[in-house]
Amino acid sequence: MLSFVLLASAGLVSQASAACTRASLIEGTASYLQALTAGKASFSSLAAGTVAYQENDVALDISKGLLSQGITIDFNRSIYDTTLCASYTEVVATSKHAYVIGTRLAFTDDKITKIESNVCDDGDWLFNAKGSLDYNKKENWDPIPAAKRDSREVIKAAGDAYINAWGDSSIKPPFSPQCSRLEGGSYISGGNCKLNFPPPFNVTNRRYTIDEELGAVDIFHNFPFLDKAIPRDPGTQTNNFMRVEAGQIKYIHENTVCAKKSCAK
Ligand SMILES: *[C@@H]1O[C@H](CO)[C@@H](O)[C@H](O)[C@H]1NC(C)=O
Ligand SMILES: *[C@@H]1O[C@H](CO)[C@@H](O)[C@H](O)[C@H]1NC(C)=O
Repeated sequence: MLSFVLLASAGLVSQASAACTRASLIEGTASYLQALTAGKASFSSLAAGTVAYQENDVALDISKGLLSQGITIDFNRSIYDTTLCASYTEVVATSKHAYVIGTRLAFTDDKITKIESNVCDDGDWLFNAKGSLDYNKKENWDPIPAAKRDSREVIKAAGDAYINAWGDSSIKPPFSPQCSRLEGGSYISGGNCKLNFPPPFNVTNRRYTIDEELGAVDIFHNFPFLDKAIPRDPGTQTNNFMRVEAGQIKYIHENTVCAKKSCAK
């Protein structure tokens, strides 16, 4: 009888793991941030065995990367995707070693199974951690009241439209009149968020984190042509993190890592 009950409940657990609880994603993300602060490449929320780890699209031994350093975090902002079981966290550090870091954590059965970070440092696209900190603090990413939340599809479509319009000027992304964009430490505001680049411009390898409560989407992707040091395909490693309110893009944060430093020049 006891073994029957255990088996039955194990079945329930594996069914439930198709989606995750917000609480477990919050807890796992907080433990990642604590480990980043402490400089510990091993912590309790990591899955047993091998965790896929990459920085700037390059696979790395987790013990040799950011988690071994001990980073003094000035600011962090996280979103939680209970459908894909993932979180995205933005970290700004201005003292000791200045960084702006975007990290996507993927979870399986409440444990972290994959970590990918864009690590922006001196010489990366418009890098300025102090600027990033100041502008980040001024923005409001509070939870959206339940009655006003957009669906996952609406939030994703807004994020994709922003990126798709880069190579196709016939696409009109739904920008809020207050749309602003933080790129590295540079800020533009007043709704003028449109970008367009010469075709062909095909942004591939999109990895999403979508949070309906916070009206947010982050997309890790590749950015063709920016960086002459690497070929158009796959392109420069980038992520764009967006706040969507009533279907409109209010804030955009871009982290772009130059393969060859100073690719913005
Ligand atoms: C992340 O930010 C939250 C508040 O937004 C704060 O409570 C928490 O201490 C921060 N975590 C770290 C590791 O700095
Ligand atoms: C963009 O790249 C993807 C993946 O390589 C490919 O499947 C798709 O056809 C491309 N789209 C365009 C418009 O070139």
